Amino acid sequence: MPKIILITGATDGIGLETAKMLSGLGHTVLLHGRSADKLADVEEMLRAQPGAGHVETYVADFSSMADVKALASDVVAAHPTVDILINNAGIYGTPNTRTADGLDTRFAVNTIAPYVLTRLLLPQMAKSGRVINLSSAAQAPVDLRALSGKMPLSDGAAYAQSKLALMMWSRVLAESLQGEGPAVIAINPGSLLATKMVMDAYGSARAGVDVGAQIVTQAALSDAFQNASGRYFDNDEGRFAAPHPDALHPTKAKQVVAAIEEVLARITPSSGRG
Ligand SMILES: NC(=O)c1ccc[n+]([C@@H]2O[C@H](COP(=O)([O-])OP(=O)(O)OC[C@H]3O[C@@H](n4cnc5c(N)ncnc54)[C@H](OP(=O)(O)O)[C@@H]3O)[C@@H](O)[C@H]2O)c1
Repeated sequence: MPKIILITGATDGIGLETAKMLSGLGHTVLLHGRSADKLADVEEMLRAQPGAGHVETYVADFSSMADVKALASDVVAAHPTVDILINNAGIYGTPNTRTADGLDTRFAVNTIAPYVLTRLLLPQMAKSGRVINLSSAAQAPVDLRALSGKMPLSDGAAYAQSKLALMMWSRVLAESLQGEGPAVIAINPGSLLATKMVMDAYGSARAGVDVGAQIVTQAALSDAFQNASGRYFDNDEGRFAAPHPDALHPTKAKQVVAAIEEVLARITPSSGRG
C-alpha cells in the first residue's frame, strides 16, 4: 500500500536522493523546497521514473516560521493523513545568519522549523506513522541564548548545537507521545556525504549521497525502525547508538523544548505567506 511521505529539503542532496528512492517504490511523495524552480525540476525528474508514485510540491522558506505554518496548513488541507514526515531540510553555512524574526538562521532551519512542522502535522499522523529527523554526528551542548537568537555563533558551532537541539526535542516528543502517536526517530545519515552542504563547508567528502538516502529510506519504511521511537540511529556506526549525553538528560532536553516554545511565543511572523 503506497504511503504518503513528506520530505523537506527535497531539492538537493540526501533529500532529493531519498525522494527518488521513495517515489520509485510507488509511494506518494510530497516534496518540500524553498525554490519553486528547483522543485519543478525535481518533480519532472521523479515523474519520469518508471513506477513513480504521485508527486506534489510545496514551497516554504524555513527561515520563516510563517512559511512553515503555511506549509503545514497546505499539506493538512490536501491530505487528511500523512504517514511519514522526513525532516531533512538543513543548513550549515549561510551569509545571512539572522532571520527576519531575529533568530539564528541555523537554529531556525535545523531545529525550530521542523519542530513547528511536526507539531502541526501530528494530528494527521497515525500511531503507525513515523517522524524521521536528520540530526548529525556533529552535536554540541546547546546555548539557549543562541537558540533564542540572542548570541551569535560560528557556522560550525551553530550547526552542531542546532543538531543536538533537534535530537533533544525528538526525544522529548517521543516520550510525550508514549506510543500514542508516530514514532519519532533521529538519525545521523552518515558523516561527510557528498552533498552541496558538505562540499561548501569542507571541500571534500567521504562517501556518496546514496549512503544517506538508503538509511533515511530504511528509517522511513523498514520494520527495524518501527519500535525505535526516541532513539538515535548513527549511520557512521550502522546501528542505534547513544546520542550526545545532553540528549539523555531529561532536564536539559525539556529546557531546550521550553526555549523553543518561548521563541515561538515571542516571534510575530514577519515574513512569508502565512
Ligand atoms: N551530507 C552529510 O554528510 C550530512 C551529515 C549529517 C547530517 N546531514 C543532514 O542531512 C540533511 C540534508 O543535508 P544535505 O547534506 O543533503 O544538504 P544539501 O545538499 O545542502 O540539501 C539541503 C536541503 O535543505 C534545503 N534548505 C536549506 N535551507 C533551507 C531553507 N531556509 N528553507 C527550506 N529549505 C532549505 C535545501 O534547499 P536548496 O536546494 O534550495 O538549497 C536542500 O533541499 C541536513 O539536515 C543535514 O544537516 C547531512
